[in-house]
Amino acid sequence: MAIEPSVLYFGTPVVLLSTENGDGSANLAPISSAWALGHTVVLGLGRDGQTARNLRSRPELVINLPAPGQWRAVERLAPLTGRNPVPPTKAEGCRFVPDKFGAAGLTEEPSHVVRPPRVAECPVQLEARAERVRPDVAGEFVIVEAGVAKVHADPRIVVPGTDYIDPAAWSPLIYNFRHYFGLGPELGHSYRTQTPRTQTPRTTSSPGRGGVSGRSRG
Ligand SMILES: Cc1cc2nc3c(=O)[nH]c(=O)nc-3n(C[C@H](O)[C@H](O)[C@H](O)COP(=O)(O)O)c2cc1C
Repeated sequence: MAIEPSVLYFGTPVVLLSTENGDGSANLAPISSAWALGHTVVLGLGRDGQTARNLRSRPELVINLPAPGQWRAVERLAPLTGRNPVPPTKAEGCRFVPDKFGAAGLTEEPSHVVRPPRVAECPVQLEARAERVRPDVAGEFVIVEAGVAKVHADPRIVVPGTDYIDPAAWSPLIYNFRHYFGLGPELGHSYRTQTPRTQTPRTTSSPGRGGVSGRSRG
């Protein structure tokens, strides 16, 4: 059947973007329009938000990936903007809060190669630089192409002795038509995977799965 949904948010990972405000403080915003092409991450941002404004002037950022168990902290940020005054194009009820880390109950952790801080509680953090910031065709959004310069991962989601994220231990937080989900059990894998397989099931709880035990890939 043909339908007319108001949004097309078909289930993409949530990221928290740290950027630098004009006064040197940090802004933090949840974004679900994000995907990776090699080591470039493409982001879709509202034109009038503080994040887009920051990246036009100060291109460094951190792309922090929360785990499913952190959805409440993400949702605490949802009605907030770092822009003052709040632009009329923002959703109804949106309010200015300068300290978004504090409002979310999250902790700033210094980055290694960029100025904005990482979110200490996020199991994956990508330090990056916006290489291109341009308007979308409708003029409502900006499309950002960010080059990742440094990747940090919680050791509990890394295959020991390698640089591979263990997909059985990590789950992104998925934004699925404005509802939050984690991943279900693994269904299979791509013929291109090079992740070393673990021989025994993981028994320890993993930060990447919000406290739910990961599974062996067998
Ligand atoms: C889960 C979630 C996903 C979101 N995805 C996006 C997005 O992809 N792009 C965007 O511009 N805003 C997105 N938003 C809305 C922004 O977080 C919101 O506009 C916020 O006020 C931006 O903050 P800023 O103005 O300080 O940058 C999302 C919000 C939530 C809660």
